[in-house]
Amino acid sequence: MTGTHRLDYVASPGGTLRGTLQVPGDKSISHRAILLGGVSEGTTHITGFLQGEDTLATLAAFASMGVRIERVGDEVTVHGRGLHGLEPPPGPIDLGNSGTAMRLMTGLLAGQRFDSVLIGDASLMTRPMARVMTPLEMMSASVRGSARHTAPLHIKGGRRLRGIRYQLPVASAQVKSCVLLAGLYAEGDTEVVEPEVTRDHTERMLEGFGYEIRRDQGIALTGGGRLAGGEIAIPGDISSAAFFLVGACIASGSELTVRGIGVNRTRDGVLRILEAMGAKLELHNHRIAGGEPVADINVTASALRGIEIPPEWVPLALDEFPVLMVAAAAAEGTTTLSGAQELRVKESDRIAAVADGLMRLGIRCETRPDGMIVHGGELTGGTVQSFTDHRVAMAFAVAALAASGPVTIEDCENVATSFPSFVGLANQAGLTVEERYAT
Ligand code: S3P
Repeated sequence: MTGTHRLDYVASPGGTLRGTLQVPGDKSISHRAILLGGVSEGTTHITGFLQGEDTLATLAAFASMGVRIERVGDEVTVHGRGLHGLEPPPGPIDLGNSGTAMRLMTGLLAGQRFDSVLIGDASLMTRPMARVMTPLEMMSASVRGSARHTAPLHIKGGRRLRGIRYQLPVASAQVKSCVLLAGLYAEGDTEVVEPEVTRDHTERMLEGFGYEIRRDQGIALTGGGRLAGGEIAIPGDISSAAFFLVGACIASGSELTVRGIGVNRTRDGVLRILEAMGAKLELHNHRIAGGEPVADINVTASALRGIEIPPEWVPLALDEFPVLMVAAAAAEGTTTLSGAQELRVKESDRIAAVADGLMRLGIRCETRPDGMIVHGGELTGGTVQSFTDHRVAMAFAVAALAASGPVTIEDCENVATSFPSFVGLANQAGLTVEERYAT
């Protein structure tokens, strides 16, 4: 929380979502565009850059390492300095709330000539970092964290990294990306083997920048190459679109189109799950932008039913579970989520946070170490906590569409990390959300 005033949302009950919306650029891809643009040769022009606190933290981090970056709204020009051209930052690099920035940058910084220190906000400073420290140490990097393996991370420069073959113990695109980025600086081959498929934006962008990626059993590259900057048109963020997709399903009479959304098969779990629950979704106008598949998604109000979510879909919808559990609450029958223990170490413990909020809105649910069971029912109004988690905050604003009374969500400042225009777009689409500053 910043300052003395807490930002709450008050979402009015009911409403219908209609019209055509465009959501901001994909957060994962925006981070990667700055990161790879910064260490490429030549200029990278980015359009559709997410102007959220998380991605702006990555931008500021690269600017502090001597990368010239010009930004006008969502258009960014990055003057790359090549793989070996970054300069030592003047002090610790503050990455705010962003786990992606911290984990990806740790891999990249492990290969630099200089030392660096990464810090973040209260939530980021408690998130697990052993998952990146372990493989980086195997590569002969030196990354020191707190006794609990959390940030601040002290990364020593000037190390000679060597390539490894790494079997990921958890399905994590951040860890995969961290190891591949360190691999750019390592001697020989670096290969990452995933237990389940995770988002492949790093691999796609590396290839787009002319770096050879080999996909066999794992994802492999050879260190010592070079990256060439270019044009990147960032698609709309499916994780942001998800709030409106679920909203339109549960608000009777809705019909909404969300345009230009990234529908990469490693990110489309929300579409698969909603369709399995009976949602009426249609994809139109398929195209490729920034090396990623993009489409317009049309959704109409649908009678949802509870399902058992296939565990192999979990990594494909990882960030969408707060709002998918709201869909489950508004559905008929029971929804079971399992194999999702990773949700406990996101910006908040999302299993506990979502269960707490749903119960406050009159929904029966049970938590498990790796998931939860939600019994569809009648959502009442009430007051819920966001646990300073942007996606929990937005999910409960959406819940108001199916609730019988207003829903107040406390502590919503962090929505600005991923979706600063959420309230404006929600009101435009037909979900009435008011911002209130509480002392
Ligand atoms: C991300 C990967 C996922 C996701 C996060 C963004 C990325 O995290 O939850 O919001 O951009 O690589 P994990 O790698 O921890 O699963």
